[in-house]
Amino acid sequence: MTASLNVALLAAGEGKRMHSALPKVLHPLAGKALAAHVLATVRGLSPRAIAVVTGFGAEAVEQALEAPDLVFVRQDPPQGTGDAVRVALTALPADGVTLVGLGDVPLVSGDALGRLASLAAEGRLALLTARVREPFGLGRIVRRSDGAVARIVEERDAADAERAIGEINTGFLAAPTALLAKWVARLTPHNAQREYYLTDIVAMAAAEGAPVAAHTVDDEASVAGVNDRAQLAALERIVQRRGAHELMVAGTSIADPERIDVRGSLACGRDVSIDVGCVFEGEVRLADGTSVGPHCVLRDVAVGAGTRIEAFCHLDSATIGANCRIGPYARLRPATSLADDVHIGNFVEVKASTLGKGSKANHLAYLGDATVGARVNYGAGSITANYDGANKHRSTIGDDVHVGSNCVLIAPIEVGAGATIGGGSTVVNAVPAHHLTVARARQVVIDEWQRPKKGEPRSSTTTTKNERERST
Ligand code: UD1
Ligand code: CA
Repeated sequence: MTASLNVALLAAGEGKRMHSALPKVLHPLAGKALAAHVLATVRGLSPRAIAVVTGFGAEAVEQALEAPDLVFVRQDPPQGTGDAVRVALTALPADGVTLVGLGDVPLVSGDALGRLASLAAEGRLALLTARVREPFGLGRIVRRSDGAVARIVEERDAADAERAIGEINTGFLAAPTALLAKWVARLTPHNAQREYYLTDIVAMAAAEGAPVAAHTVDDEASVAGVNDRAQLAALERIVQRRGAHELMVAGTSIADPERIDVRGSLACGRDVSIDVGCVFEGEVRLADGTSVGPHCVLRDVAVGAGTRIEAFCHLDSATIGANCRIGPYARLRPATSLADDVHIGNFVEVKASTLGKGSKANHLAYLGDATVGARVNYGAGSITANYDGANKHRSTIGDDVHVGSNCVLIAPIEVGAGATIGGGSTVVNAVPAHHLTVARARQVVIDEWQRPKKGEPRSSTTTTKNERERST
């Protein structure tokens, strides 16, 4: 813990330019709220206290960011970044150093923030500034002829000559807490937006002769703020490209690093290959030698070594063993667990079920709330009828069972080991082990049946006359 470091994170703004009901700081970047990115970075500095200023959509922001090391403080109504800092200071220790961060600048670097904190610990007002190619919309750093920072001017209040300045305010600053408190108390809203601008404290400090230091960086992405959805999408690509690069240099094959999205964490073993258009959410682990075909979505999934996920699979909260073959077009829903060597084929849905080693459901099937043994063959078109309209029931299928095609297993039901269920059966009662069970209407052959002819009146007798049953 850095003994005397406080953090004030500003997250009260609506983000008008997002045109969204969701507060801006909760919009996700790589699957994580913008403000959560900044929080993760400031936590790296081990501050003793973090105050998050909320306002627009405060409940939602507080609920999403809730953590034991945070205090939330409401700014009602939000009246600018300077007002937000004033509110934050009411919830922070009055001594030490306070680092101010913006909830909408997600990729800020921990090193730069650490630098601001140490400059402030030496008694300075420390600003994080950046030289950018496109300063439009940002506060500009106005320097004196000797190079010292004189003030910050917002885009809307800037004269033409000031708009030409390429050095911008990132919005991150740090100062001794007592000085910061004194300065923000003196702010006035005399500007184009009628807001209390935090940036106005720079001119105050300079006028008092307090030392102002600028730490200037040139990595534009690390200081880019998100004000609209185009900027958000641009940052998303940057984050994804970086993540893909890290995976590739660590040994993962990615068919096209421009076409992968990791919205959480993706851990890959050796010789993993990922085709185009895949989305990974939550925590995904791919063991050695696994391959993921094009256009798959994997959320909170662990995949065993050597398993092949074919194209167009949707896998959610599932555990998959080694050397399995999944898809194409398979859907695994939460609480699915597949042992090694399992095959799940096209248009097969599995929910809250376990399948033992070597079991196969290769075509057009549904397994819900089922415990399936090893080496089971589950035929095309077969389903577990697990829901009676009110409650869910389990199906238990023993080892080496063969379920023919198009069977309905009405749960709760038990199918004994080694049993065979004839195709087209609807089974309601327990199925004994090692026998053939057939539960379907017998085939009938009607010898004298005549196919109707065009224009002939329909007869009700032809089909019932001289019926003869034949067993099949
Ligand atoms: C701000 C800076 C600008 C800088 C830019 C960097 C000011 C006056 N301007 O402008 O110099 O170049 O960031 O991205 O500081 N917020 C509150 N309460 C409020 C207003 C805002 O908590 O009353 C929060 C917002 O939620 C947001 C952050 O402060 O996370 C920045 O606010 P925003 O309105 O986006 O400021 P910019 O116009 O981008
Ligand atoms: Ca902003």
